[in-house]
Amino acid sequence: MSDLLFATNNSHKLREIQEIIGNEFRILSLKDVKLDIDIPETQETIEGNAVQKVRFVYELTGLNCFADDTGLEIDALNGRPGVYSARYAGEGCSFDDNINKILRELTGVENRKACFRCAICLITDGEEHIFQGRVNGVITTERKGTDGFGYDPVFLPDGHRQTFAMMPAYLKNGISHRGRAVEKMVKWLTC
Ligand code: IMP
Repeated sequence: MSDLLFATNNSHKLREIQEIIGNEFRILSLKDVKLDIDIPETQETIEGNAVQKVRFVYELTGLNCFADDTGLEIDALNGRPGVYSARYAGEGCSFDDNINKILRELTGVENRKACFRCAICLITDGEEHIFQGRVNGVITTERKGTDGFGYDPVFLPDGHRQTFAMMPAYLKNGISHRGRAVEKMVKWLTC
């Protein structure tokens, strides 16, 4: 089994990726390699952030590794919060603060279309590869469900009756932005 270091401090993402990848690769966390660091994320696109994060960790460790970055893009908000999804309600804000802000901004708005976009940058043997995944849906008018993280309680993927926060993990991972990007990465690694 090969090892891949996942350049994230987000324990939710780590669990999701481990579930999606299964047994083919062993996913190492920053903790596993004794790295206690803040990873910079200062680019203007999710692809730029994924590249920035993975380069930072690769330069520190020299290990095969990958990083992801995700943005929630809401049509009626001209694509916001986008690359600012993590800190939309301000530096140090919580997932709840961010949800409150988008629900407030969408009060009375009929067009609730949105999508999650995820970019993964993988470095193996010094070479960079980018994989992308996307899922379309709508923003609900109130929170539904308690699982998942981030904007999951208000994101209803197209063709489904449950928000991401109401779904069992395997269902979310099977259709999500991150699940789709990871699937492409695994396919590339195993072919
Ligand atoms: P990041 O920069 O990739 O960590 O993602 C930015 C923000 O998007 C996170 O802080 C979450 O609020 C949100 N996010 C990322 N992935 C998901 C997801 O799978 N579901 C819900 N929200 C997510």
